[in-house]
Amino acid sequence: MTEFNVRKTPGDTAWFTQDRFGMFIHWGLYALPARHEWVKNFEKTSEEKYQKYFEHFNPDLYDPKEWARAAKAAGMKYAVLTTKHHEGFCLFDSQYTDYKATNTLAGRDLVREYVDAFRAEGLKIGFYYSLIDWHHPDFPIDPLHPRRDDDNIEELNKNRDVRKYAKYMRDQVTELLTNYGKIDILWFDFSYPNAEHRGMKGKGKDDWEAEELIKTARTLMPGIIIDNRTELEQDLWTPEQVQPTEWVRDSEGNLVVWEACQTFSGSWGYHRDESTWKTPEMLIRMLVNTVSCGGNLLLNVGPTARGCFDSRASSALAAIGEWMKYNSRSIYGCTQSEFKAPTDVRYTQNGDKLYVHVYAYPYRLLALDSLAGKVDYAQFLHDNSEILFSEKDGKIVLELPYVKPDQIVPVIELTLKK
Ligand code: GLC
Repeated sequence: MTEFNVRKTPGDTAWFTQDRFGMFIHWGLYALPARHEWVKNFEKTSEEKYQKYFEHFNPDLYDPKEWARAAKAAGMKYAVLTTKHHEGFCLFDSQYTDYKATNTLAGRDLVREYVDAFRAEGLKIGFYYSLIDWHHPDFPIDPLHPRRDDDNIEELNKNRDVRKYAKYMRDQVTELLTNYGKIDILWFDFSYPNAEHRGMKGKGKDDWEAEELIKTARTLMPGIIIDNRTELEQDLWTPEQVQPTEWVRDSEGNLVVWEACQTFSGSWGYHRDESTWKTPEMLIRMLVNTVSCGGNLLLNVGPTARGCFDSRASSALAAIGEWMKYNSRSIYGCTQSEFKAPTDVRYTQNGDKLYVHVYAYPYRLLALDSLAGKVDYAQFLHDNSEILFSEKDGKIVLELPYVKPDQIVPVIELTLKK
């Protein structure tokens, strides 16, 4: 089959492009206001007021073993947890700040329990680490900062030293990559060099001292996968809340390793009143569409302030798991096909197996171009029941049952002739 020529990078992406499906977890103090993880920015919340969330953070039902089981049952193979989001609060026990879970009512290192639980279920471990920090006293006020519209910006910025902040990040990344065993992914977020507000500029690689930061990470954890959002191209390209319709390319046009990240609803952090939840069918299609363009999908859960998955997220995960139980062979180890699928069909391929995902179930016959003479055997994937086919004008014509099988997206597995 066609080999795709994907840009080589320093990180070990071989397992990653096999595994294809991971869980993103956005969890922090913003779970208490429960109205988006950017609430501090949106509402320009003062430190004093935001402190209330720190004081009331009490995730008494936090049981990451349950999270890990849910991720595994949904067919996910790795996870990425926000160890620190833009609000600056650390879920881990860092010696460089007091603004951490150990000093809340939780009273312990929540990252350690996540790592242990997910590792025990056999999932690979990722850490999200925010480059942005709306709490750190050395992080200069900028266009995204909650204090951006204050009158005394000059005064506020007088003693802030972004160099010290960059050092703080290196120190914390060192802790994260030293104290928790093998970490597979480091997910930095994000750069905005072109932002502007009242004469203030956004931040990017020079502010983060990105080269140093990445060097620190790579020295401690060779093979780790690092994303692109420091503004330096690394191992992973991360389109967010959009679905690419073809394989993602770097700035020079090379195919790259990529991962779409998507939410169940419109927010990453727990959002009580957000109602734009995607249906299981949309989510399963998202996964299929992603793999059909050679990518991975990182699907986000925003646990509540008590430490549980929202019931809406749990049901979505269960529905995906039900589909994956029977159809995951069309996902793991698969990539873009060498063949072009007709409208309402998506292909994925793994060597001599071509997977036909049927989005609009047809009346009895499904014709597939350019496959005449190439197919040895055809069956439904969910039950291994044979599908008869004939050949006509260079196509194969599959004879499908009248009634759509009870699968959100039915998949037909074609074995290609050697
Ligand atoms: C962003 C947002 C954010 C989220 C992330 C996930 O850029 O700032 O809140 O963590 O993307 O991709």
